[in-house]
Amino acid sequence: METKQTISRVGAKPLLHTLVLALGLGAAGPALPQAAADLNAGRAKVEANCAACHGANGVSVADNIPNLAGQRGPYLENQLRALKSGARRNAVMGAVAAQLSAQDISDVAAYFASLPGASGTAKTALPAAIAMSQVTIPPDHRASMVMYQTVNRPDINQVRYLYANEVALRAAREGRDLPNGSHLVLEQHAARLGPDGKPVMGSDGYFVADRLIAYAVMERQAGWGKDIPANLRNEDWQYGVYTPARQLRSGVNHSECLACHKPLDRESYTFSIKALTEVAKRR
Ligand code: HEC
Ligand code: HEC
Repeated sequence: METKQTISRVGAKPLLHTLVLALGLGAAGPALPQAAADLNAGRAKVEANCAACHGANGVSVADNIPNLAGQRGPYLENQLRALKSGARRNAVMGAVAAQLSAQDISDVAAYFASLPGASGTAKTALPAAIAMSQVTIPPDHRASMVMYQTVNRPDINQVRYLYANEVALRAAREGRDLPNGSHLVLEQHAARLGPDGKPVMGSDGYFVADRLIAYAVMERQAGWGKDIPANLRNEDWQYGVYTPARQLRSGVNHSECLACHKPLDRESYTFSIKALTEVAKRR
């Protein structure tokens, strides 16, 4: 989608400025006028780009995602602009909003505003392509993979261990994008807490792990991205969560994984490519 705004014509600004002042709106008021919203285009854009989380009908798929059906159009537009600029911060929704043009924003806002509102308990089912995951976990990843990074997460009292397979390590060593066959496993551990309620620090500078919570996995195989909406797709990567008993967790909204990792398209969609490359080169 194009992101360029087409409104900064010379001469338009002083007039608008006067208008904005006259209305008492100040700097945080609505942005400059745009082309009229197109409801049909709005519906198509919502179905393609927003349905995985907010539902095509504006009734969301989960409690952490707002319903948008029947919400006021100008409010939606303002929030989308703030999410796009980063003035309102949310890693998942920010990555989605970053891809919207000014026209997209007015179209989708008008469409959501036109829908009947829903009751607080109604939910939309996750689309099949978002609910499913083909990622696997090796039977003994600690033996067959290489641990390449430890991450303290003081924000959620966790310590995480990151593992990569040979395919990923070889590509990182050679400075190539991680190809099909790459497989990354992230162990999430609750940190042991001290009497002050804070994580206990080990002598290595990392939190002491107390209890395994889950395995977050990324794996890339040919064709795995083909059914995923383009604004979420991470080429052929898929995501999945395994329980400590190595069962694939169901009900996970994989579009959140995809959205948050999507801006890292130049780093093979990983947050840890630097550490992976360093470890791969040392071996
Ligand atoms: C991967 C999931 C995901 C997708 C896809 C997604 N959203 Fe969101 N959206 C969220 C989440 C999560 C929030 C809540 C953000 C927060 O807590 O600040 C949100 C919040 C919003 C808000 C703010 C609502 C409010 O009440 O303030 C708007 C507007 C919005 N989304 C519009 C869209 C539009 C338009 C699209 C499609 C172009 C879209 N979203 C696609 C997850 C998603
Ligand atoms: C809000 C953003 C966000 C979301 C959503 C997210 N991740 Fe990540 N992911 C990260 C960050 C940041 C890291 C780096 C390690 C850390 O800080 O914990 C990471 C690291 C990873 C890694 C290690 C490879 C790498 O990219 O460095 C895997 C595997 C992974 N995430 C899988 C998942 C899965 C599976 C999901 C969905 C269930 C998911 N992630 C959702 C932000 C996110």
